[in-house]
Amino acid sequence: MKENRKVFKEFFKRKKKHQKQYEGNYTEKQHKKGKLTARERIEYLLDEGSFNEIDALRKPQNAANDTFGDGVICGYGTINKRKVMIYAQDFNMMGGSLGLIHAQKIQKVQDLALNMGHPIIGLIDSGGARIQEGIASLAGYAGIFTRNVNASGMIPQISIILGPAAGGAVYSPALTDFRFMVRNTSHMFVTGPSVVKEVLNEDISFENLGGAEVHSSKSGVADFIYNDEEHCLLGVKKLLSFLPSNHIERAPESAQEAIASQNLKNISYVLPDDPSKPYDMIDIINRLVDNNSFFEIAEYHAQNMITGLARLNNRAIGIVANQPKVMAGTIDINASRKAARFVRFCDAFNIPILVLEDVPGFMPGKHQEHEAIIMHGAKLLYAFAEATVPKITVIVRKAYGGAYIVMNSKNMGGDFNFAWPTAEIAVMGTEGAIKILHHKELKDAENPVQLKDELVQDYKENIANPFIAEENGYVDEVIEPQKTRAKLISAFALLENKVKQKSPRKHGNIPL
Ligand code: HXC
Repeated sequence: MKENRKVFKEFFKRKKKHQKQYEGNYTEKQHKKGKLTARERIEYLLDEGSFNEIDALRKPQNAANDTFGDGVICGYGTINKRKVMIYAQDFNMMGGSLGLIHAQKIQKVQDLALNMGHPIIGLIDSGGARIQEGIASLAGYAGIFTRNVNASGMIPQISIILGPAAGGAVYSPALTDFRFMVRNTSHMFVTGPSVVKEVLNEDISFENLGGAEVHSSKSGVADFIYNDEEHCLLGVKKLLSFLPSNHIERAPESAQEAIASQNLKNISYVLPDDPSKPYDMIDIINRLVDNNSFFEIAEYHAQNMITGLARLNNRAIGIVANQPKVMAGTIDINASRKAARFVRFCDAFNIPILVLEDVPGFMPGKHQEHEAIIMHGAKLLYAFAEATVPKITVIVRKAYGGAYIVMNSKNMGGDFNFAWPTAEIAVMGTEGAIKILHHKELKDAENPVQLKDELVQDYKENIANPFIAEENGYVDEVIEPQKTRAKLISAFALLENKVKQKSPRKHGNIPL
């Protein structure tokens, strides 16, 4: 009895000491920087009272450091009643830097997440490898990266950057499926401004080097960007609502009644009469999917290509669409990479893919060629061809050349290709084709304007229209725009149990 009392005394003493770590100016230090504490973040993200912490009382390797936890809070809980594994780096403890114990704690939740088939969420706020621990911290990162790779395509992995992510701290997020950032407080860089100054003699601010704006628009490293942490964490919850917990499950169905957009009847009015004029493809997406369900991913990067999740009749789908209002919807390097990565994510997690197509071609020019559009464009070809989830394309307007092929065309394995009567499917646009085929006649013609008009008419009637494609089976059906939603619902329902085995091999050699 006496012995027990002693043990309990020690137990409560340790708990109290642990608790004391979070007192004093602990919370204020983070709040002053416009940031929540690691614990507040977890509480905000998880269902109330659902968090169970593990390894809370692990001690840092350095015996002189008499704190608990080693700068990271790890555990599990639920989000909208679905189980998740979570870790949150604590910047107040040694700058959230990663030492051996810190790494072991993260690795433990990574192992649990993969073995139990639950998503894992990392809240990053860290100065990177803990300098004092030398190679042990580098080895710690190596163990985390290896687990990130092993879990890739098995469970959703989400990184939320809520402070610095410096050095090794950037590469685990890079290996996960999605990265969230917050304006002004999140920064990601391999080396910080002081190293940049030292090595390159360049002055650059944190924000310009690796701020949320830079990574969400220029580099494309961040998929989501928010003004504050609370909205960011709500965004994470929203993303998870579309995703299955692992690669075996199907994405959860929404419990709400599926409501179609009120504007479905006006859908074809989105297209301008003049086929060379731009319009916003988002207007078409919003009319097709369940009301207000479209959730755009990488909204500010490669805006000529739209990627996002939505619900169609309550089922999650991934959407890949050309955006005619940005660069006329041409596909460049960034657009190819962005869409290819998204297609592979959807494929890994059983999310059917809808492609909305209006694309005049791949982006021409020296810059794109020298930066290897050939290899980057091939990524999208590869991603669509290898994806075994249900895949449907609707050709809204232009579908020219290689860009027609790449956007999930029939012979790339598209399960259904539908086209609106406004579709123009051809090797190239009218002007370019006529110039190549008829430049001699046009040069010698008495009335070149009249001849050109005739040639344009002939090209449209006999080549660049959806009816020829339909007659030859390259398009399954030319459909009325306002019937597109109903058509897609029935087509995806038909494809629901699609089974397609991948060829047995170690892995393909995607053009990285
Ligand atoms: C140990 C660190 C640390 C680190 C920060 N701290 N980074 N301790 N190892 N990597 C500590 C600081 O000493 C300080 O401790 C506390 O955390 C807060 O840091 P401050 O500098 O006061 O905060 P702030 O001004 O907000 O700047 C944050 C920062 C800066 C931008 C993250 O600390 C920084 O630049 N750190 C180094 C970043 C870096 O270069 N990391 C790369 C490591 S190499 P006290 O006791 O004063 O509170 C790496 C390689 C791995 O990661 C490669 C794998 C592929």
